Order: sequence, then structure tokens, then C-alpha cells
Amino acid sequence: MLNPRTGPRVPAHQVTTRHLGAAYPLLTEAGLGHRGVLVGHDLLGGSFVHDPFELYAAGILSNPNMIVFGQIGRGKSAFVKTYLWRQAVFGRRAWVVDPKGEYCPLAAAWGTRPVALRPGGSVRLNPLDPGPAAEEDQGDAIDGAPGMANRRQAEVLASLASACLGRQLLPRERTATDLALCAASAARGVPTLPQVVDALLDPSAESAASVRTDRATLLEDGRDVALELRRLVHGDLRGMFDGPTTPGLDLGGPFVSLDLSALYSSPALGVLMACATAWLQATLARQATVPGAARVFVVVDEAWAVLANLGVARWLQASWKLSRAYGVANVAVLHRVSDLQAVGAAGSEQVGLANGLLADSETRVVYGQAPGEVSAARELLSLSETEADVVPQLRRGVALWKVGRRSFLVRHVLGRDERAIVDTDAAMTAQPARRSHLDASHQPDVGTAPASLQLLSV
Ligand SMILES: Nc1ncnc2c1ncn2[C@@H]1O[C@H](COP(=O)(O)OP(=O)(O)OP(=O)(O)O)[C@@H](O)[C@H]1O
Ligand SMILES: [Mg+2]
Repeated sequence: MLNPRTGPRVPAHQVTTRHLGAAYPLLTEAGLGHRGVLVGHDLLGGSFVHDPFELYAAGILSNPNMIVFGQIGRGKSAFVKTYLWRQAVFGRRAWVVDPKGEYCPLAAAWGTRPVALRPGGSVRLNPLDPGPAAEEDQGDAIDGAPGMANRRQAEVLASLASACLGRQLLPRERTATDLALCAASAARGVPTLPQVVDALLDPSAESAASVRTDRATLLEDGRDVALELRRLVHGDLRGMFDGPTTPGLDLGGPFVSLDLSALYSSPALGVLMACATAWLQATLARQATVPGAARVFVVVDEAWAVLANLGVARWLQASWKLSRAYGVANVAVLHRVSDLQAVGAAGSEQVGLANGLLADSETRVVYGQAPGEVSAARELLSLSETEADVVPQLRRGVALWKVGRRSFLVRHVLGRDERAIVDTDAAMTAQPARRSHLDASHQPDVGTAPASLQLLSV
């Protein structure tokens, strides 16, 4: 190290991070290029631009999916909303599963109305809607029965049944469910949950004969599944997923959000989000087969509620893997990194699936985490020691981005006009008359890069 008093006097010299990156390749990061949306400032210098489709095309990412972590109120949803909004410039579309009903201002900005789901409401979505025609053609008959039901519908139904039961299906339950789906499909085209429940509670002699049993036994095999699924049909959750999809929904627009806020505090939120996501992905997959279809972001906010169930987690991971085939980038928003471990016992299949979701999401955006979360974050996200030190210090609006094998510290910058679509502090800022004053002091309260960050991009 040079002593500043005795060493040679070198005049100050300014360079761009791009040139500095060439001079000090191990200390500075040249960024991800300029193709994509501007997220904000790279705290080590320059702006930060990201687009999963462009990065995939450039070979920097091997999948377009993204997971966003962060403590309450750190700016996760604000980032996601503005990211989608900025992507609209490039003709990208977005579909959102919105458990808190907070994407309504974004929908309004886009000129669309959210699809509001509530028990006994006027909108129904059928989670058993089929996927694309090609997928159906490949659909195998189930268990050798002359089935119309394709594999996707069977997987969705099994996941929902297992989510409702809160455990994996037993082999005989799975068989009874598959046979009921076949019977419901044979009866009237696209099956619905009420038809499946009816078929479970009143199995046909042919269904029973196809698995060498009698009707009474088959009924007994599927009774628990039927009684749980019945909640979605006749019970407290009826009127949302228990019939054909309501005709006339505007699904061709650039932004579709499913508002589940009426059920946010329901213990069945995970099941409902699973139903909504199942419907959404089938519909999207059908649209994606149209030539020239725009690329789409599918956002599951508060995704911990979906991951909490093994059946749903398994199915979600499978659909995550299909993202490339359909030109979809999935975005999951979670609070803590350990949400992924909390979904099951150590070493369980559930934890394996949750970790698989992480592996299939090459862009990880980590907002501030509690100090107690650091070891989980370090292990699951392969953080360096410096990154692990930094994560608990990140203030609102600042996140550590792990994009493939590269790291960035990014301050998300809100545009003036974007504040209206991201504000979730209304309940915390009581007097509307004083809002402008509060907003003035509510500028992005983001930190500057701690000195230790010099090593971040190593
Ligand atoms: N980059 C930012 N600059 C300034 N304010 C921000 C920024 N990001 C978020 N905010 C403000 O912080 C508040 C909380 O943000 P947001 O709702 O995105 O948090 P969150 O992490 O999604 O919280 P939760 O876990 O409760 O869903 C919002 O009112 C938003 O306006
Ligand atoms: Mg949020």
C-alpha cells in the first residue's frame, strides 16, 4: 500500500464502470448491458438494467424465473409493480395472483379491471380448464381407462386434493380421483370440480370395474377427497372455482390480475391461490401457442402461502420448469429465505421442491433480511461472506441481486408517477391532507454502499 505522503502523486482520474471493469475485473462489475428495463442505480456505479428474456437470449441466464425475498415493507411489491409497468413499454404482458388486492392501482393504470374472486361472487374460474390443444393430444389416458382428461388436469386435481387434505394422496385416493376426472370429462367436455365431486361420491360401475373393485369400495377410497373438495363447491369457499369459467372475462389485455383479497385471512388461501394459478397457467399456455404471442410475466405475490403445501409445491415447480416452453417468466415473492425451508421438515420432499424452485429461478432479488435469516440466506443463495454481512443492513428499496453467478447491489428508483401504483402505506399514513408532506420526506430512504461492498462483485 502506498503512503499518501511519500508515494507518487497521481492526479485524480475518472472512468466509467465499464472501463474500470477492464482495469479491475475482479473488483468492478460491468453490468448486464442495456437491453431491458431500468431498475435503478447500481450502488457500485451506473444504472442497473434487467430483462430475463434478453439475458436468457444472451446466454447469461438459463431460465427466466425470478424470486424476490424481503422483510415486510422493504419494497418487494413496489419493485415488482414498477418492473411490470416498465416492461409494458416493450409490449410485455403480466398476469398476477394478488392475495392482498394491492395491484388494483396498477391494473387501473393499465386500463384494465382486476378479476375479483370472492365466495359467492360473480366470477368463476375453472382450474380444470384444459391447456393448449397440442398438450391435450399428448395427454395420456389415465390408468388405462378410456380417458379424455389429460395429464395436466389430473396433476392439477391431485394437487388441489392434496392441498385440501393437507397431506399426500394415498394410491387408492389418487386412483379414485383420476377415475372421477375421467368420468367427469366423459360426461360433458371440460370437467368442473362439482362434476368431479359428484363422480367421487357416486362412482360408476365401469370405473370400479376398471380397477377390479366394486362401487362401494371405490366410493370409500375417494370419500375423504370428495368431502374436502366439496368445500370449494358447497362449503365456505364456494362460488369461485366451482363451475365453467365465466364467459366474457377480458383476458386478452396486457395485464390480468386475480384479486384474492377477500380471502387473504382465510386458512384456505394456499388452496385458493393454487386454484387461481392453475387456471391462469392453463389459460396462458393456450394463449402462448398463438403465433407471435407476447412474452408474459406471471407473478405470484405472497407465494409462501402456495409453497406451504406439498402437492401444490410439486405442481408449481413443474409449471416453473415449463416457463421457457411458453415464453413465461415466473416471479415469486416471499418474505424470508427460510420460507423455503419452513415448508417442510429438513430433508423432506417439500423442502427439496422449494429448493428446486430456487434452482429454477436464476434471478434472485434479496431485500433486507433479519439477522436471524442470514445463515439460511447464505446457505440457500450461496452468498459470499461480504454479501451475508450486507443483507441485514439493506434499507427499504435496496436489494442484493444475484443474477446467475453475478451479484449487484441495486437501489430501486421510483418514478414520480409510479408512486401512486406502489403505495401500500395508506393505512400507516392516516391523514390524506398531510400526504404530500409525508411523501416529501418519504423519498427512497436508501443507503449508500457500505465500504465492505467493494468485494461484492468478486
Ligand atoms: N424504492 C422505493 N423508494 C421509495 N419508497 C418505496 C420504495 N419501495 C417501496 N417503497 C414504499 O414502501 C412501501 C412498502 O412497499 P411494498 O408494499 O412494496 O413492501 P413489501 O416488501 O411488498 O411489503 P409486504 O411484505 O408487506 O408485502 C410502499 O408504500 C412504497 O411506496
Ligand atoms: Mg408486498
